[in-house]
Amino acid sequence: MALWGGRFQSGSSEYFKTFNDSLHFDQALILQDIEGSIAWSKAIQQAGVLTLEEQQALEQALYELAELAQAGKLDITNSNAEDIHSYVEAKLTEKLGDVAKKLHTGRSRNDQVATDLRLWCKQQNEELQALLRTCQQSLVALAEANKQHIFPGYTHLQRAQPVRFAHWCLAYVEMLKRDEKRLVAANKHINQCPLGSGALAGVVYDINREQLANDLGFDSPCLNSLDAVSDRDFVLELLFAASTSMMHLSRMAEDLIFFNSGEASFITLGDQVTSGSSLMPQKKNPDALELIRGKCGRVFGSLQGLLVTLKGLPLAYNKDMQEDKEGIFDAVNQWQQCLLMANEVVNSIEVRSDQCKKAAAEGYSNATELADYLVAKGVPFRTAHEISGQVVLYAIGQQEPIERLRLDELQQFSSLIENDVYQFLDLEHLVDKRSTIGGTGIEAVNQAIETFRHELGVA
Ligand code: ARG
Repeated sequence: MALWGGRFQSGSSEYFKTFNDSLHFDQALILQDIEGSIAWSKAIQQAGVLTLEEQQALEQALYELAELAQAGKLDITNSNAEDIHSYVEAKLTEKLGDVAKKLHTGRSRNDQVATDLRLWCKQQNEELQALLRTCQQSLVALAEANKQHIFPGYTHLQRAQPVRFAHWCLAYVEMLKRDEKRLVAANKHINQCPLGSGALAGVVYDINREQLANDLGFDSPCLNSLDAVSDRDFVLELLFAASTSMMHLSRMAEDLIFFNSGEASFITLGDQVTSGSSLMPQKKNPDALELIRGKCGRVFGSLQGLLVTLKGLPLAYNKDMQEDKEGIFDAVNQWQQCLLMANEVVNSIEVRSDQCKKAAAEGYSNATELADYLVAKGVPFRTAHEISGQVVLYAIGQQEPIERLRLDELQQFSSLIENDVYQFLDLEHLVDKRSTIGGTGIEAVNQAIETFRHELGVA
């Protein structure tokens, strides 16, 4: 039975019905729809629309429906209902008859769907925060286990300066921590309750909206009924949080794909997160990471898609807004899957310390150090940079790293260079000198690990 029809003389065309119906995707909101309906039944009972017995009967039937839904015992897909709101009402009517037809008093699917979606986003938001934290914990553990290992840091994908592998891990912890904070911030806007806004203009019944918002776990009611039924900023904010975090995961994936390549060989990924080739027996491909990188496309697409859908929509509700759901459902689902996958990949990483060290020592990544050495001897940095560059050019010609050049060779470029230079050019020494906050020196890295362990509640 449709929720409308009184003013129609003929039914919908079959094609229109299929085109218009949203049940096949908004059934994901069934528990939220039931939760909202229970709270609404209480609100209209207090407003005198329902007797206490009627409210209790509705509440009981709604609980039973929720139990069936949770047990997977509802054949929702085969129902003829237009959307999840019609479905729940039809189920109630089947069970309770006329009482069920009172539940929609003062309510519209417009405030109902906005409420359901907010409840859904709130719940997902909390689950995502937990997943982000798990990933951070795994990265901190990887940092801790590998903090002695030094490998090349890159700019322009050229070896730049050596860094600790742990420092790389902690860079992504910082990003995921901000992703978590973005979720906390998004929750603030999600946390307002549209229910009680009616179709667009509010309700005539004496609804205690503060109480209603509170019953549903929201901070407060939405304060303008036109805005309440047509605002989907909260979905956009969650999509933006998803997109940004997916972008971070994708950069991490790209780094790891490179670290795992034959060319770099800094790490080995576990067999459990890689796959083989049907043709080339030697292959062990980083599919998990490539999928994480690849799934960014659809998540970013959902953000862009909803922005375009909402642009230019007149107030208040328009059916265009039904297009808000599939994108966010998919984006959240993909993001969750990627966080779980990224976590497994991180836990499978073995660092190849010999390869890391070898690469860090090659590529003249201690050239900046030589310049700093000269600065310490009073040479202006620009001049020191020039001298160090000449030394690198010479060393390339000799096919030697800087630290393998003899002192007399080095002194051709500056008489200020003395024997103590070799200690400056030593890998560990030059890394550990970077010990101020945020640096890659062991002291700074240890401090950062300590702080994260404390924040993340890791023993
Ligand atoms: N299925 C609709 C949606 O997802 C529910 C609201 C429909 N409201 C209406 N007046 N047609 O947005």
